[in-house]
Amino acid sequence: MRGNNAIKISDSIFWVGVQDRETDLFEGLWNLPNGIAYNSYLITGDVNILIDTVKDQFIDSFLTRITRVLSGRPLDYVIINHMEPDHAGALSIVKRLYPGVKIVGNAKTAEMARDFFDINDNVITVKDGETITLGTRAFTFALTPMVHWPESMAAYEVTGKTLFSSDIFGGFGATEGGIFDDEADLELVTGEMMRYFVNIVGRFADPALKALAKIKPLDIRMICPSHGPVWRRDPAHVVGLYEKWSRQETDDGVVVAYGSMYGNTKAIAENMARALSENGVSRVSVYDMARSELSIVATDIWRNAGLLLASCTYNMELYPPMARLISHLENKNMKGRHVGLCGTYGWAGTSLSVMSDFVERGKGKWKLVEPKLSIKTSPKGDEFEMIELLASNMAAAVKRQ
Ligand code: FEO
Repeated sequence: MRGNNAIKISDSIFWVGVQDRETDLFEGLWNLPNGIAYNSYLITGDVNILIDTVKDQFIDSFLTRITRVLSGRPLDYVIINHMEPDHAGALSIVKRLYPGVKIVGNAKTAEMARDFFDINDNVITVKDGETITLGTRAFTFALTPMVHWPESMAAYEVTGKTLFSSDIFGGFGATEGGIFDDEADLELVTGEMMRYFVNIVGRFADPALKALAKIKPLDIRMICPSHGPVWRRDPAHVVGLYEKWSRQETDDGVVVAYGSMYGNTKAIAENMARALSENGVSRVSVYDMARSELSIVATDIWRNAGLLLASCTYNMELYPPMARLISHLENKNMKGRHVGLCGTYGWAGTSLSVMSDFVERGKGKWKLVEPKLSIKTSPKGDEFEMIELLASNMAAAVKRQ
């Protein structure tokens, strides 16, 4: 019977994770239309070592995989690269099942193991750059704080040149049968990986660059992240992608995001999009913020050099779906992109001032493209020309990138 069997990924390494096709919202926030994989790896030999666990909801199939591989042998160590419950959720159950198991983490892991699970014993702590031997197997650890939590780290298995990278190089999307990069639909994988990077890790793009600086010098034959496929054909490809995203390098496209109650602001956004195309911008995407998945919009904004925001005012404040977008962009600490603003109103012109405050608070992170527009109800007279001017200035700005 194959159901709940482990998947062999090398002579002594088995994938023992789970595919989550049931959770609707990751972190209670982000849609999972393609599910998500929680990868855990079991290394067998003179000692048996588990790398991370899974979300506790899936404990049954997870333990079935482990016990089938071990066939009565003990589990000796669990390396915990990350304590977020999508990976460490089953730790206390594993410890109860294998009372002699030793947990390997860093000082912050040990603190979190106490806080989350009241685990105080059998914890081995490692430092950044330290190499330890578990049985005959050597591991070097790279602490990668804030990618994605303070205790996050990556474990490099020296003999097999295998990097267990945790959230780094991970993505949304359950594995569709193909567990390796050479078996997977890489277009889907890359899209979901970038959506994970931007929305889960993006705020920590600078720490991600520091983590990459530690990882890149390693001689890596295979990358085993805690989400998404195992990268065995071309690990350097995924490292390059991550570097580009962490540096916030952009393509020369423009996102037009709007908030509109009765269609007047929508018409402005459509005019902007048309004018961008007429001015030679080939990548233009238009999003109605009341109906668009925030994580998809944010990913597109991360990818592109230009952003045009057009929003109505609502009860003398910024229209709530646009306020949510701005709050998310601010939280993600995006920088280096061009932004143009158009606020609309019926009687109290609040939307432009709130969006302007957002740009000013960024202290240079956003490069303002003029003119800023404030339009009462719907455009009239030369306001149409001003909309086109804003779009053509944006087109020129992204082409200069
Ligand atoms: Fe996949 Fe930060 O947990």
